[in-house]
Amino acid sequence: MIRVEGLSKSFRVAKRREGMRGALLDLLHREQTEVRAVDAVSFRVAEGEMVGLIGPNGAGKSTTLKILTGILVPSSGTVVVNGLVPWKDRTRHVASLGAVFGQRSSLWWDLPVGESLRLLAEIYRVPPDRYRNRMAELDRRLGISKYLQVPVRKLSLGERMRCDLAAALLHEPKILFLDEPTIGLDVVAKAAMRGFLKEANRDLGATVLLTTHDLADIEELCSRVLLIDKGRLLYDGALEELRRRHDVQARLRMDFSRPVSRAELQAAFPGAGVAWEDKGGASSWEAAVDRRQAQPVDLIRALLAGLPVADLALAATPVEEVVRRIYAEGVGVASA
Ligand SMILES: Nc1ncnc2c1ncn2[C@@H]1O[C@H](COP(=O)(O)OP(=O)(O)OP(=O)(O)O)[C@@H](O)[C@H]1O
Ligand SMILES: [Mg+2]
Repeated sequence: MIRVEGLSKSFRVAKRREGMRGALLDLLHREQTEVRAVDAVSFRVAEGEMVGLIGPNGAGKSTTLKILTGILVPSSGTVVVNGLVPWKDRTRHVASLGAVFGQRSSLWWDLPVGESLRLLAEIYRVPPDRYRNRMAELDRRLGISKYLQVPVRKLSLGERMRCDLAAALLHEPKILFLDEPTIGLDVVAKAAMRGFLKEANRDLGATVLLTTHDLADIEELCSRVLLIDKGRLLYDGALEELRRRHDVQARLRMDFSRPVSRAELQAAFPGAGVAWEDKGGASSWEAAVDRRQAQPVDLIRALLAGLPVADLALAATPVEEVVRRIYAEGVGVASA
C-alpha cells in the first residue's frame, strides 16, 4: 500500500549571523545551510496495517507525512502510495486519503464546522445521500453534531480534533495519515479517538500511519512502530521488541519481614550494578539493576539466601522510560 525507498528531504535555511555586524552582513549576503529533515528512509506498509511513527522533536516525522500526503516534494527517493506518486498525482491521491495534522486544522477557521464539512463533501464528490449517512455515522462515533453550527476558531482543541478527524474520514478514505491526532486531548477524548481509529481500521480496512508523542497510542493501536531520529530510520518493528532490546534496567521490588539496612543489602549482594532505594521503613526496598553489570536472577538468589524476604516482584520498565532513554542517547543506540 505504501512503499518508501531512499526518501530524503533537505530544507535550505538562511543562516543568521550574530550581532549588529552580522545582521548587516546578512543584508548583503545571506548564507544558507541545509537541514536534512529526512535522510534515506525506506519502509513499506501493507494494506490494512496500522503503523506508528515516533521520534523526538524535529526528527522528521511531520516532513515524512507531508511528503506521503503530497504536500511536500522530496529531494530524492521513491514514494508510491496506493499505486500513485503523491506529489505527481495529487488530485487522484487526495481522493483516496484522509489526513489530520493535529497542530493545524484543515477546516476553514471562520466557517461553522458543518459548512466546512459540506464543502469538503463537494470537493470529494460525496453523493448527498451518502453524505447524510456518513454524517450520521460520524456523529454517532465522534459526537460532532453539537459543533456543526460553531466556527472552528471557537472550538476547544479536543472538539476541533474530533471535527478534523470527521473531515478526514468523510469520504471513506483507504489511507489515513495522522500527525499527532491525539495531541491535547483529555483522557476521555483520547480513548474515544483511539476507539474510533480502531474502528476505521477494522471496518473500512483503512491503512493508517500516525505520529504521536503518546506511546500509549502506539501500544493500543499499532502492531508496528517506526522510530526516526535526525531524519534517519533507526528501528522498524514491534514496540515490545524495542523495549526488550533496550531495557537495560530491571526493577526489583521486595518486602522483608523485618527492617533491613542498606549495609545488609550490600553485604548480601556485593556486586556492582545495583542501586537501592528505601520504599518504606527499611522493610520495603526497590533495586534498580543494570543488566549490563548484574543479572536480576543472581540478585534474587543472593537475597533469598541471606535475608528474610517476604515478597518479591520484578517490574518491567515502562515503555516511555525505554524510549526516553533511546531519544536521549540518540543514534547508535537503537541500531546497535
Ligand atoms: N519548511 C521548513 N523549512 C525549513 N526547515 C524545516 C521545515 N520543515 C521542517 N524543517 C526542519 O526539518 C526538521 C524535521 O522537522 P519535522 O517537522 O519533520 O519534525 P517532527 O519529527 O515532526 O517533530 P515534532 O515532534 O516536533 O513535530 C526540523 O529540524 C525542522 O526544523
Ligand atoms: Mg511534527
